Amino acid sequence: MGRLFKEHDKRQVVSIGGFWRFIEDAEGKGESEEWFKNFPENTEKMFVPSCWNLSLGKFEYFGIAWYQREIDITSKNSLLEFEGALSYAKVWLDGEYLGDHYGGYTSFAFKLTNMEIGIHTLTVMVDNSADDTTLPSDVADWYRYGGIIRDVKLHNLGNTYISSMHISHELSENNDSARVFVKGNISSLIGERQENITLNFDGKEIAKKTITLGDENAVEFEFSAENINLWDIGAPNLYTVKIATSDDDLADRIGFRRIETKENKIFLNGKSVFLKGVNRHEDHPEFGNAFPVSLMQKDLDIIRNLGCNTIRGSHYPNSKEFLDLLDENGILFWSEIPMWGEQSVETLEKPILLSRALYMHTEMVNQYFNHPSIVIWGMHNEIETKEQIAVDITEKIYKLLKSLDSSRLITYATDRAEKDICLKYCDFISINKYFGWYGGGTDAWKGFFDELKVWFKKQGVEEKAVIMSEFGGAALYGNHTFDNIKWSEEYQANLLSESIDAFIESGMVCGTYVWHFADARTIRPVTDRARGFNNKGILNEYRKPKASYFAVQEKYQKL
Ligand code: GCU
Repeated sequence: MGRLFKEHDKRQVVSIGGFWRFIEDAEGKGESEEWFKNFPENTEKMFVPSCWNLSLGKFEYFGIAWYQREIDITSKNSLLEFEGALSYAKVWLDGEYLGDHYGGYTSFAFKLTNMEIGIHTLTVMVDNSADDTTLPSDVADWYRYGGIIRDVKLHNLGNTYISSMHISHELSENNDSARVFVKGNISSLIGERQENITLNFDGKEIAKKTITLGDENAVEFEFSAENINLWDIGAPNLYTVKIATSDDDLADRIGFRRIETKENKIFLNGKSVFLKGVNRHEDHPEFGNAFPVSLMQKDLDIIRNLGCNTIRGSHYPNSKEFLDLLDENGILFWSEIPMWGEQSVETLEKPILLSRALYMHTEMVNQYFNHPSIVIWGMHNEIETKEQIAVDITEKIYKLLKSLDSSRLITYATDRAEKDICLKYCDFISINKYFGWYGGGTDAWKGFFDELKVWFKKQGVEEKAVIMSEFGGAALYGNHTFDNIKWSEEYQANLLSESIDAFIESGMVCGTYVWHFADARTIRPVTDRARGFNNKGILNEYRKPKASYFAVQEKYQKL
């Protein structure tokens, strides 16, 4: 698959998914034995895209695996694109090293120039092992699938190559027009040459520039879009922007909207908005993170039917197709990197952790910048924000994100808000708290919010908007009871209803993301997570509703 609209008219792109040769490398000897030159004979087949753990016998295989296939290169210049490989990948073509990529949920590509037309051999090493400094770490509460989880593509290039397009805008005061800024990265693949670059907006050519192209050129356009319709919740007005050279082109879709926060509230297009959301893992028991598009649409329909206007992509960048669907359906999205808590202070102090986080944030923002549905960047989740090291990390990430994108809101999810010393470095405060499940009953919410008011004042952040980024409890699907006991559907439904009531009553909360949409497989021990799933879904893993789905629906539809 790929984007849900046509990105290219001139450029031909072919998927090289399908069955690849595959072999596990539990001892990690493939590199020293140069498997990229001599691939072992006794291989299996693995479908791309997929998570290898869901093939029979590989459920608990974590570590290194190798993939290989022949590819048919039909043009002298091309681009080899991987839309996602969990979590670290190294790539060779005909035994020659092309490069590597860290981070399983974003795409990466290699430019191939002056190639011989014909069959070539592509070898990929994928490693999903983890420790305390990997993102995600080895204890994160979801399943650590491995594999080439998203499509692989070969783009045929001619003499020029448009590698990216960044589109930003500034709305006029009355929201009916906008200044639009388009920045394309374009290179010539055959040495310096003059090119005409055209800009199309909403199906019409509106500008042209003649440029001497070299290896890498930033080409900028600026124009006014008049009489525009805003992109809004349930009003997904999208506009296509396209840049083109004589033999390449790149289109993307944008929406005009403004997200802001002031005086304890969040505003979309000038109107105060209550975020009615769910946390969602892009995971399904049969497909893992290689999530099919048909099921994405179904998830979205279920979520909309619940009365939601937003989704948190917990806890990693979601696939491009899902973001396209959100753009097309007018649903707000919170996108984050898999920087998930429980690291010790010593681990947080290791420079590699921060450098990985900064790198992954940069990639996420650059790749997803044009999506109107994304209104929030999430920096991290439940890290040790009572300690100075977390202040240093949060400040650095916050400043980086602001420099990359000043048009969206930045936050992080804290599970220690009442003692958190990082709150200065976020645009609004997001709280994970599980009264009714971990410690304390739902009657504890009131005292908690009173405590927060005092702490926020002390921290000088009392003007910031506050949302509940996680709350909930587990229920086993089909487990009913007359009594209000834990793990029953009734208990979970009551917990969520009472919590949402308490949030509204507090007068402090302007958004709620239920933890979570559907039961999702986890790496945590079964003694801690029944069935090997995080069972706090308001649907089970096959998307069958629990009683809590209807309880939340009743609340959200009234809000
Ligand atoms: C955490 C975390 C989730 C986790 C949840 C839980 O706060 O952010 O990823 O799964 O709580 O305990 O169920």
